[in-house]
Amino acid sequence: MTKPRAMLAGDDPSADPLLSCLAAIRAPPRELETAPRTADGSRLLCKRFCRADGGSCARPDCPDAHVPIAQRQTCWTLDRYGVCAREEARRADPKAPRCWFPHPVPPPADHHIALQVEVGMSDRVVSRCRELLGADAVVGAARADLSRNGDVLVLVTAGHRGVANAARILADDEHLAARIKRAYATGANHAADRKGDERNERGGDEGVLFADASVVGDDADALDATLREKLASLVDAALGGEKDSSFAARIRVRCFPPRLRDVVLEALEARPVLGGSHGWETCARVDDATHALDVVAVRGRAHVTVWSLDRTGPDSLRAWLMDAGEAARKRRTDAGAMCRAFHKIEEATARAGVAIERTWRCVDVGAAPGGWTQWLCARLDAACGGEVFAVDPAELGDFKNGRLPPNVTHLKMRGEDAVETVRRAGDVDLLVCDANVSPETATGIVSAFVPALRRGATLVLTFKDATKGYAEWRRQMESATDTLTAIGFESPRIFHLFSNCSREKTLVAKFAGGRDEKRTGAGVPARAEASSRKASRDADRSRLLLARSLAVFATMPGEFAEAHIKARGFAPPPNGSVRLMRGRLLKILSDEVIAESSWHAS
Ligand SMILES: C[S@@+](CC[C@H](N)C(=O)[O-])C[C@H]1O[C@@H](n2cnc3c(N)ncnc32)[C@H](O)[C@@H]1O
Ligand SMILES: [Zn+2]
Ligand SMILES: [Zn+2]
Repeated sequence: MTKPRAMLAGDDPSADPLLSCLAAIRAPPRELETAPRTADGSRLLCKRFCRADGGSCARPDCPDAHVPIAQRQTCWTLDRYGVCAREEARRADPKAPRCWFPHPVPPPADHHIALQVEVGMSDRVVSRCRELLGADAVVGAARADLSRNGDVLVLVTAGHRGVANAARILADDEHLAARIKRAYATGANHAADRKGDERNERGGDEGVLFADASVVGDDADALDATLREKLASLVDAALGGEKDSSFAARIRVRCFPPRLRDVVLEALEARPVLGGSHGWETCARVDDATHALDVVAVRGRAHVTVWSLDRTGPDSLRAWLMDAGEAARKRRTDAGAMCRAFHKIEEATARAGVAIERTWRCVDVGAAPGGWTQWLCARLDAACGGEVFAVDPAELGDFKNGRLPPNVTHLKMRGEDAVETVRRAGDVDLLVCDANVSPETATGIVSAFVPALRRGATLVLTFKDATKGYAEWRRQMESATDTLTAIGFESPRIFHLFSNCSREKTLVAKFAGGRDEKRTGAGVPARAEASSRKASRDADRSRLLLARSLAVFATMPGEFAEAHIKARGFAPPPNGSVRLMRGRLLKILSDEVIAESSWHAS
């Protein structure tokens, strides 16, 4: 088993049972192949004894341990993945042996929502749920099966909020919602019931009929048998709360893992003639349904929840739990994105809370085909000076009407060569870079743009992984982040966005150095300056300027040094040697620093 490519910051998935359950399975777990041992690891288990299901081993001189099943270690794959490899084998071949190891059923857990997502997204889903609902919000995880890329379930507790509120908070993040294949209710939140009003901030659980129960089985067959036996009466009990006796429910059945669906439908169809006054039937179309029945089986326990779909307004539980994912995916399609990258800039700015102002001067390095430029452009107002420099040696794709918007300038060159053109146009408010280069090169490009940035400018930067291993990529990102901090970018945050691929992360930071914003061009409103803070800002500014210049110099790869020198109108050294270029660059930079500080002194 190998680790997924982009894990949470600094973690080892095997240290966190939740993440190790969700980690991608790339090869059969080795432990399955090795000979099973006693719980203390001191002796091999006698396979003959194990195989005979607590039966016998005829060898009088058997060197291996004869341990009854209840005293053996628990099933390894069930422990880690919530799925038993031997049960999976039996599903394909009923003659395959039963598992030799105990499958203990954990006590009922306090979770209320289960999110079904692709395994490759699961670590991002876990960390986003923790961000939105609190560090303890994710209480478990399970896989549907042991396939490499199967779906997994992330189990979330609503805490004091109530199920509807928790679901709404998750659904309000469109980028998260778009990745949720299905959200199940796995139980009513009794804690919220007791707290009364707290859960009803917006669209609480009132009017929503819940009946939650869980049934258990020592193995998959036993669990299926219990479901067949008890499910219909659980549904009856849930619907028994309806006051209107002529009420007939139409139930939409949803199951995880999906194989459970046949068991559940069979159990519902085989129910005895109803004793109570309510009728119900299953229903295939969600729009025709009055209720949902969610059956979610995790580690030997099936959570059975019936909930009402009656309230179909925008604030209903249905809107958040059942429809939000679909709606988010539809909005993505309707956004008319030029390419998938479009969603990265949207998500990065949303996650970091960057509010784009319509007057901003933006630079988009690595702009082609143009998704980021397209997204930015829609938020800017050309009449107020909002513009985008789209820098890329490659052609931009088709914009509306086949023409670039009037406030987009395509600089058909590498980022490092565009600095001077951009600088001449005025200070930059937002620098974004999605160029497909290493973190080191990307940082070099950003360093080159530092002289063009206004104080407080925002940076959005993609870190792509071109390495052979996660550790090396992580080292590169850390070193790039250190460099950015050294040249004046503060509070850098690195996100593994839902819109990133697995080998890509996005950094967002603010530039603390640079000049204060001030616009004087025609039609561009000059911005107000807080004069009381000016003196201390000026002092900061000289210090930062010096630090920034030296840091730029220290970190700049040769090619950027050359671009920097050219940008200032000096000829690069004829042989292009890095040492000579650095010497010349240092001279230029120190002249700039001296010029700026004497300006301050006067
Ligand atoms: C992943 S694409 C960017 C997609 C873009 N963000 C969008 O939304 O359409 C990467 C681009 O980076 C460009 N690129 C690579 N190195 C570059 C450099 N040094 N300067 C500018 N662009 C560069 C490539 O030409 C390519 O078009
Ligand atoms: Zn034996
Ligand atoms: Zn097992």
